[in-house]
Amino acid sequence: MLRNITLHITEDYAAMGRKAAEIFAGAVKESPAGVFGFATGSTPEGLYKELAKMHATGTRFDGITTFNLDEYHPIQPGNTQSYHYYMKERVFGPLGIKNTHVPDGEATDPLAECARYEARLTAAGEMAMQILGIGHNGHIGFNEPGEAFARLASYVPLTPSTIEANARLFEDPAMVPRHALTIGIHAIMMAKRILLLASGAGKADILARALQGPITPQVPASILQLHPCVTVVADQAAAAGL
Ligand code: PGA
Repeated sequence: MLRNITLHITEDYAAMGRKAAEIFAGAVKESPAGVFGFATGSTPEGLYKELAKMHATGTRFDGITTFNLDEYHPIQPGNTQSYHYYMKERVFGPLGIKNTHVPDGEATDPLAECARYEARLTAAGEMAMQILGIGHNGHIGFNEPGEAFARLASYVPLTPSTIEANARLFEDPAMVPRHALTIGIHAIMMAKRILLLASGAGKADILARALQGPITPQVPASILQLHPCVTVVADQAAAAGL
């Protein structure tokens, strides 16, 4: 493993959440008014449950500013599958965080929304820690595999594999939005620290390709090999290929 990557392998999903929560809470303790990047999806749910438990026993998270990686488009914030809703239910409400940013899934001009979001990110200053999951196809945020790394926030068509992977969460698979707004690779790479989570055997192959394979836009997460400070928390099943 590269020296810039610290790897924690946990026994199972629950232990991954606990370890990630310990690391994240440590970063918030160091930067209680810092900027933190959040991810959605199934993987970080355990982390968020642990943070909610910590909050309930007195740990404060309410001084931080948050930026989410991405949001579907089009989607209403009240839709239970929107990332707005996910964050409100699992993070912002339970942790009492008020200074939050999620791309606007209802923006009438998605390109203008990308520019607005990028400007806000830049103005917020250095991100203390960016939480990331990894897609089965190696995406981070909704930066899907392609010919080049997308530098800035962008409005992207989702790949068929991502639509299929996310269909499980929608009552009707036909309702999965076909596009998303996502921050770009530049903002992710500018974070002081990356906390990358992976769980389950289905992620073993892509995690190994991301961390140990060639750095290529075909595996967007492989760019993290060039980041100076990456902490990976993976359960045994996801770490099997490393
Ligand atoms: P998942 O999604 O945590 O639901 O597997 C990860 C991702 O797509 O980044």
